[in-house]
Amino acid sequence: MILKDGDKLLPSYIPSELPHREKQVRDLFEYFKNAIVDPANSSPKYYQLIGPVGSGKTVTALKFGTMLEEAAKESGIALKHVYVNPRQHGATRLMVFRYIVQAVEPSIFSASYGAEELVIELLKYIQKRELYILLTFDELDFMINQTKEPIVYNLTRLNEVLPGTHCNVLGIVFTARSTTYQSKLDEAELSSLGRFYVKFEPYGTNQIYDILERRCYEAVYPGTVGDDVLRYIADVTSPPLGSGDARYALSILYNSCMLAQNLGSPTLNPEHVRKVLSVLNPSVTEEDLMYLPEEERYVLLSIARLLIHSRSPYVSFDQIVAQVEHSGQKGKPRKMELKDVVRYVQDLQNRGIIDVRGLTEIGISSVSANTLDRFLEYLVERLSE
Ligand SMILES: Nc1ncnc2c1ncn2[C@@H]1O[C@H](COP(=O)(O)OP(=O)(O)OP(=O)(O)O)[C@@H](O)[C@H]1O
Ligand SMILES: [Mg+2]
Repeated sequence: MILKDGDKLLPSYIPSELPHREKQVRDLFEYFKNAIVDPANSSPKYYQLIGPVGSGKTVTALKFGTMLEEAAKESGIALKHVYVNPRQHGATRLMVFRYIVQAVEPSIFSASYGAEELVIELLKYIQKRELYILLTFDELDFMINQTKEPIVYNLTRLNEVLPGTHCNVLGIVFTARSTTYQSKLDEAELSSLGRFYVKFEPYGTNQIYDILERRCYEAVYPGTVGDDVLRYIADVTSPPLGSGDARYALSILYNSCMLAQNLGSPTLNPEHVRKVLSVLNPSVTEEDLMYLPEEERYVLLSIARLLIHSRSPYVSFDQIVAQVEHSGQKGKPRKMELKDVVRYVQDLQNRGIIDVRGLTEIGISSVSANTLDRFLEYLVERLSE
């Protein structure tokens, strides 16, 4: 068995540690902490997190929400973090407010209320109970693309709904993948929301590695997933090969572990990862291989053979040269000049079939080496007829 607790790799799980987003959580906390010192006199604050797919926006907002709830509790303040996502909960104002009201107190909900009434009931209720709310509005850009309703206006003017009273919604964290939604807001919305935002960069290789490593600590048995395999997943999911998406990296890890287990392997090997990569993101097609020059196909075949027998996800250039000569000895004359091997390796990289990370790190990320080997054997056989 490899997976001790596979759920810990799934997106629904909020890990206890967030490597490379701890500062972002702290910054959020710094920004909002005064609100829980004197909540009855604080005015609502807004915060925008902008970053690409899988850069940790949602998980950061969730973590911060829990942290603020706990800090408030320690000061004897009843604060509830409400997370709303229009993609999950509905992308209309009515659906959003229905969801928020039900999350806070189902007994004040009525299906006959419109959006305005729901807001009024909600604000009255939390005021009366001295309950405070922090809201995370995830994927604001999705909402704005779906509806023309002035959701940002409504959310940032909650303090004007019941004039002369204090609004117990202390703040809202918004997230979006880019700032383009701002061009769809009117002046009033922009001025209340503010143009300030915190940018989340895509994760780099070492960052993805750290994230996977920490998650493995909770999810897999010790000694079953090696550093080299994690490094390999990090390499293929971060720039320049990947987009720095932690969700994709975790999904590759999870699926590879499942595959390895199903095959009865005691450990996760690069070959399992390559197989999953070929399924999740197939990029080498039969056609690609058909159009390769014959000599180049030999080089690729050599790389595939080496990879199958190697425990490492990469082989070195020297190994490839030796392997090319070796396959020549098996009755197929392959006397190849060194400079030609260099040229073919370069061309295979340009075609996106292999990854060259240096003279000692040449690998195939996008297709299972076993499949490739069989396919190439078949091609070689047919071509030499
Ligand atoms: N720093 C981190 N540490 C541990 N896990 C992380 C970290 N960042 C992201 N993850 C995990 O990666 C996955 C994607 O993160 P998250 O959902 O926060 O991305 P996002 O920026 O909200 O992406 P999207 O724009 O697609 O909604 C989640 O499973 C999350 O738990
Ligand atoms: Mg998200």
